[in-house]
Amino acid sequence: MHSIYQRINNLSALLSSCVLSLLAAIALSSLLFTADPMGTLSIGSVKVYPGKARNFNEPRREHAFVRFNVSADLSPLFHWNTKQLFVYLGAEYANSAGVINDVVIWDRIVRRKEDAVINVSGKNKYIFKEVSSSFKAVEPAFYTLKYNVMPYVGALTYGEAARTDEPVVFPVVQDRV
Ligand SMILES: *[C@@H]1O[C@H](CO)[C@@H](O)[C@H](O)[C@H]1NC(C)=O
Ligand SMILES: *[C@@H]1O[C@H](CO)[C@@H](O)[C@H](O)[C@H]1NC(C)=O
Repeated sequence: MHSIYQRINNLSALLSSCVLSLLAAIALSSLLFTADPMGTLSIGSVKVYPGKARNFNEPRREHAFVRFNVSADLSPLFHWNTKQLFVYLGAEYANSAGVINDVVIWDRIVRRKEDAVINVSGKNKYIFKEVSSSFKAVEPAFYTLKYNVMPYVGALTYGEAARTDEPVVFPVVQDRV
């Protein structure tokens, strides 16, 4: 004979496996909706200026300033299991040590489908510095528009919506005017 306790135990085991299968079904069903939106990205200008030296022994770390135009309609990424998008512009380049960097210079969180059309003419939102302090010896950079889709249930997915056709050179450092 089952005690009340065992019955409750069995019932809650059944309920939690139902909930788990439902969550798994939601996570799997969103894989069927693979949108691959494409946009355009162009770089208006790149300038390099010396940063402020914190003390006399340290080299002045150069800062890069990038102007860009980006447009992409990311609304196809919104479906019932999309919580929000993390959209970012990255600069991909190999530095003098051969290390590939992917530096985020601008980003935006999109929470609603109505806001998923990106059309921005802007400049880097974050300070863009090279670890080695100078952009002199680094390779030209590709700029990309990438996104992470954060679902309600399941794993993050990643995608790339735009990339510059040609790598863009970092110009020589110029004095601030
Ligand atoms: C970026 O957009 C602005 C304003 O829409 C335009 O004047 C400029 O020429 C564009 N630059 C590039 C590189 O497409
Ligand atoms: C983006 O904005 C510019 C002006 O700010 C406008 O001329 C252009 O049509 C817009 N593009 C899209 C795809 O909405």
